[in-house]
Amino acid sequence: MSANSTVALVTGASSGIGEAAARRLAREPGVELILVARREERLRALAESLPCKATYVAVDLTDTDAPERVRAHVSEHGGRLTLLVNNAGGSWRGIFGEGGYANVQRHMELNFDAVVRLVEALLPVLRASAPSSIVNIASTAGRVARAGTGSYSASKFALIGWSDALYAEERSGGVHVGLILPGFIATEGFPATELREKALTRWIVSKPERVAEAIVETGLQGKAERYVPRGYALAAVFRILTPGLVRRVLAGGSAARLTTTTAAEAEEPHR
Ligand SMILES: NC(=O)c1ccc[n+]([C@@H]2O[C@H](COP(=O)([O-])OP(=O)(O)OC[C@H]3O[C@@H](n4cnc5c(N)ncnc54)[C@H](OP(=O)(O)O)[C@@H]3O)[C@@H](O)[C@H]2O)c1
Repeated sequence: MSANSTVALVTGASSGIGEAAARRLAREPGVELILVARREERLRALAESLPCKATYVAVDLTDTDAPERVRAHVSEHGGRLTLLVNNAGGSWRGIFGEGGYANVQRHMELNFDAVVRLVEALLPVLRASAPSSIVNIASTAGRVARAGTGSYSASKFALIGWSDALYAEERSGGVHVGLILPGFIATEGFPATELREKALTRWIVSKPERVAEAIVETGLQGKAERYVPRGYALAAVFRILTPGLVRRVLAGGSAARLTTTTAAEAEEPHR
């Protein structure tokens, strides 16, 4: 392993955006990958199918000892890490009046706390391996919130704010911190079934491979942040410039969407 080769760790690599990111990163010259998620069979199959060296850690990132288990794996496999992609995440729909604090806590534990705890464990090795990068997979929902996904938005708003501060703190030491803000991307956890069924809305749903390209631009080429597709940045711009209008438009759309959400859909955890 050369001193300037890429050693990348991708969380949530067993499906969707994380799997696409692993497949895309595997095409980089001399790269080594560490894949993290709970479903071991999927990680093993992915690692075996990649054209580069790849190892994996099957772990629930919300477990107390998860950061230490991942850190130990990195240490046992060369002790270098030049790219950390914090992608594992999930969403469980529900209005606050019904899901309450429990649903907020569930989102924060996976989408925010687990990321912070993993970064805390791996920051020393990222600093020692600098130049290196952390790419946090947030969401357009971390800039603009809708009814029924407030807990999810809260976790992603938190992730974005914390990432900006971490960027400012680690920049001088050579650890870049970038953000990805996907819109609707068809994956197992976020199937976007209703949007894909209608010709009018199908076009707004994008593919995990496009997010994977943005991860490479941010993690290996130093971009600050990328919306995927890029046009979703307009939602954030309008939210700042015309908050009243955006809130009214989203409240109207979300109310209609909520009434067409089946009970099963609302209850079904997206892991
Ligand atoms: N798809 C979208 O429309 C969209 C939009 C904006 C943002 N995002 C963000 O993109 C990221 C990836 O989502 P995705 O769309 O690719 O969904 P996905 O296909 O459901 O992937 C989620 C990944 O996270 C892993 N994961 C979930 N809980 C975990 C836990 N407790 N410990 C370890 N790993 C865990 C899952 O693996 P295991 O089940 O094997 O653990 C899976 O690999 C998420 O952070 C999501 O919030 C997605």
